[in-house]
Amino acid sequence: MNTPKRYLITAALPYANGLKHIGHLAGAYLPADIYVRYLKAQKRDVVFVCGSDEHGTAIPIQATKEGTTAQAIIDKYHPIIEQNFKDLGIAFDIYHRTSDPLHHETASDFFKNLEAKGDLETKTTEQYFDEAANTFLADRYIKGTCPSCGHNEAYGDQCEKCGKTLSPEELINPVSTLSGKAPIKKETTHWYLPLNRHEEFLRDWILKDHAHDWRAAVVGQCKSWIEGGLQPRAVTRDLDWGIKVPVKGGEGKVLYVWFDAPIGYISATKQWALNNNKDWAPYWNDKETKLVHFIGKDNIVFHCIIFPVMLKLNGHILPENVPANEFMNLEGDKMSTSKGWSIEMDDYINKWIKKENGGPALADSLRFYLTAIAPESKDSEFTWKGFQESVNGELVSIFANFVNRTWVLMHKLCNSKVPKIHTEFLDSEDLALAQSVKDTTDKVTALLEQYKFREAQFEVINLARIGNQYMQKKEPWILAKNIDTDPTAQAKIDNCMHGCLQLCANLAILVNPFLPFTAQKMCHLMKVVDRMLDWENAGKFDLLKVGYTLRAPELLFRKIEDEEIEAELAQLQANLKAKKITMENTIPTEAANTETTGTLKPEIVFDDFGKIDLRVGTIVEAKKVEKADKLLELLVDLGFEQRTILSGIAMHFKPEDIVGKQVTIVANLAPRKMRGIESKGMILMAEDAAGKLYFVSPSEAIAAGSSIA
Ligand code: 2FM
Ligand code: ZN
Repeated sequence: MNTPKRYLITAALPYANGLKHIGHLAGAYLPADIYVRYLKAQKRDVVFVCGSDEHGTAIPIQATKEGTTAQAIIDKYHPIIEQNFKDLGIAFDIYHRTSDPLHHETASDFFKNLEAKGDLETKTTEQYFDEAANTFLADRYIKGTCPSCGHNEAYGDQCEKCGKTLSPEELINPVSTLSGKAPIKKETTHWYLPLNRHEEFLRDWILKDHAHDWRAAVVGQCKSWIEGGLQPRAVTRDLDWGIKVPVKGGEGKVLYVWFDAPIGYISATKQWALNNNKDWAPYWNDKETKLVHFIGKDNIVFHCIIFPVMLKLNGHILPENVPANEFMNLEGDKMSTSKGWSIEMDDYINKWIKKENGGPALADSLRFYLTAIAPESKDSEFTWKGFQESVNGELVSIFANFVNRTWVLMHKLCNSKVPKIHTEFLDSEDLALAQSVKDTTDKVTALLEQYKFREAQFEVINLARIGNQYMQKKEPWILAKNIDTDPTAQAKIDNCMHGCLQLCANLAILVNPFLPFTAQKMCHLMKVVDRMLDWENAGKFDLLKVGYTLRAPELLFRKIEDEEIEAELAQLQANLKAKKITMENTIPTEAANTETTGTLKPEIVFDDFGKIDLRVGTIVEAKKVEKADKLLELLVDLGFEQRTILSGIAMHFKPEDIVGKQVTIVANLAPRKMRGIESKGMILMAEDAAGKLYFVSPSEAIAAGSSIA
């Protein structure tokens, strides 16, 4: 593709139902921001839109939790999230909201247009209805067992354990979350987007045109959707929170949140255009616009299948790419705010940036580590230790160290000025340094164009590493010792420091998309204006003028101390406790569902129970699982064999205290792999109302392997 005339970059609109964590930041917002900063440094015409997703059931569900209204929830979280993004340097051109009248109007018009053109169809079906609460149940209000992984807390729209997109009908043993009762089926009429009519278009557009320039995981997910047979998708809901269905028969119904939310990108662009006296239309209608959606992998189907069909039908352009990221886990487990296992952006900002020894450098430290471990092709893992090692080992020891040495030596050996070049003393190392800058610029540019942010950032740091090696070889401090005896010493010092300074100027340009606060600080040190950061300057070796006096050195980053990391790890455990969380992946999750309130799971018949083979087992060995704070690896004797079982009880029991214990095992459960270890069976635990766990043990010692029935 030739250089596009303009760019419209979107980052998934976060639900304004609570604080967002650093996994969200790494998934969509940070890569989008890096890309946009790069494009802006290229002086391209770019609009970067985002905003709050304020509809859908996530909002009223949170309102119920907080004992308030849906409106109060969005009014509380929208400004906090917006400010959090600013503090972390995510520079949207507009942060809009889907509760805004302009969005309601835009989404309504969109729906009306599709409806008028016959692009939607209506269908009357039976849907789940909660008789006790007298309401139809939105997908999120129904829970049950996931048909794919067996997780018994899956929602009617998605299983948060295995990530599978579901419909309520697929759930085994569905239960209303409002009343806790099994729902009944009742007739209702809804509007559908007949995706089946667009199969050929989607096949051509994704599986042919974009099979090679989109990420493999994105194409793969789309392929399995298309191959699975595209079905009409309901785009309205029986709910009272959302955008009213604007056509006859729509009374009491609203647009499905996933119909209105992506249209939010268009309304945000309209609002941006109004604010800036521009025309929004070419950004969505002109083929010379390059549209890119930055999202997490759970949003792929909406951005690659459903929204593109809507865009096509309404006469808009289609995304050129959807560089979806995988997930970022935290210290061995899936990040989840509701489960207390996450680092909220807000918390990080308060604890690290808004502290006396904090400041924007700590925003860049986080940006750096998140990009260094960006989950671009597979899930990745945030660990506090990794954060410390990455910041101390690369930002402090390599990048900041090079800039600082350059500044200190330039002040000491070159009279605080950019020294001139003595061409007669230039050698192959000086020339190689200048060439490295050019090569790195080319590499970083190509990688950014391909959305490979992790590698691109690596190349920038590598250039600083090359700078350190160059300086180490040249040893200007040794030359300085011989200044009285060696007439060429000052010329060689000048050449070295000139090269290092030009390298620093280039580092500022190249690092700017990734670490914008650092680039600003470097401009301050160099006494140059922002314009120097224009990408066209990268690769040049005459950016700092000879004779120019530069500011005194200042450290760009500070080290992360062991105590700070220990405090964070302790905080994580405390959060987990506060949320009274037991385990994912293991029976305690199930025990946690069995509240002591008498609300039982749906009735089963004897045959259902008869399928479960319960045995007494004796724990013969127990140890912690590396990088999984919650898991213990147990060797359990069942009389006829010994087997490995993983159990999420590490927060509750010390390994040495449970060896010899007799416990109840589900012995015929299909094996599952966790953290690379195969677990064969499950240990039953009882849990009291305070979240304390107890083994279910025979009243007296009994032969291992004895049946329980
Ligand atoms: O998954 C989410 O957080 C959604 N709120 C993303 C919406 S993206 C877009 F369509 F607006
Ligand atoms: Zn599942």
